[in-house]
Amino acid sequence: MAHPVRKAVFPVAGLGTRFLPATKAMPKEMLTVVDKPLIQYAIEEAAAAGIEEFILVTGRGKQALEDHFDRAPELEGVLETRGKSDALASIRDYIPADGAVKYVRQPTALGLGHAIWCARHLIGDEPFAILSPDDMVIGGAPCMKQLVEAHEETGGNVVAVMDVPREETSRYGILDTPNAEDRLAIIEGLVEKPAPEDAPSTLSVIGRYVLLPEVFSHLDRHETGAGGEIQLTDAMAHMIGKAPFHGLRFEGTRFDCGTKEGWLAANLSQAMLRPDMRAGAEAAIAAAQSIREN
Ligand code: UTP
Repeated sequence: MAHPVRKAVFPVAGLGTRFLPATKAMPKEMLTVVDKPLIQYAIEEAAAAGIEEFILVTGRGKQALEDHFDRAPELEGVLETRGKSDALASIRDYIPADGAVKYVRQPTALGLGHAIWCARHLIGDEPFAILSPDDMVIGGAPCMKQLVEAHEETGGNVVAVMDVPREETSRYGILDTPNAEDRLAIIEGLVEKPAPEDAPSTLSVIGRYVLLPEVFSHLDRHETGAGGEIQLTDAMAHMIGKAPFHGLRFEGTRFDCGTKEGWLAANLSQAMLRPDMRAGAEAAIAAAQSIREN
């Protein structure tokens, strides 16, 4: 039986350059979708998958992320006095148990692989999850829950995958697989950001992974890859053939909230799904359309 997945790493030390100037003084992972920051969605998704330890890899200028997972006694006092119980619950209920959120720093943003490597001492020798908060999955069962269940089925490494247009393969980690159409694609190769003509498929890895701890021995080498960064994809590629490695076609729609377009689409989609926001979202779309037409 596969070892249970109890720990998750949240890489949040990136510079967020595609979202400047918004991310000059504010972490990208604190951008809100409707009324919650991206990091909160990711933590809640992990908790729904049974994760008990939440490890944030932070860096310079990311203080707001830590504050978001602390209690706020003054604000709570004010809300209590005013009888605002819903607002009070909204700032308390998402905070994991004391000691369950841990922080480790990535001193320099050398790439996603390096960020994950910075968490190695807190993971130890067990399979673990990774959630990239700027990838948001809306609809379906919580994406990480789907991955953890797939891991229980297959053991080994499991990553969430989706089809992308061939002209966009150079933005993603792409699978080489003999059964791209199946729910669980067997991974025989992984290529980071291939040109469309070199891409072995159009099945791309998104920011949800369950990996074996062996990945750290490959990250130890600090090899740089695409864009001069230490890439997680390259370390994962070294594990192919040594243990089962699958790509799960998850249920739900993924939004790349690290881009303005993806973030906007996530906001509209999430608002449409919320009974308290649907009418407001429809009115906003109608208003935007009339501005465009006039
Ligand atoms: P991205 O590449 O999407 O984030 O990494 P970025 O580098 O911050 O964004 P751009 O490209 O400059 O706009 C995915 C996740 O990995 C984290 C980011 O914070 C993000 O959540 N990351 C990335 C790190 O923690 N450290 C890094 O060195 C790079």
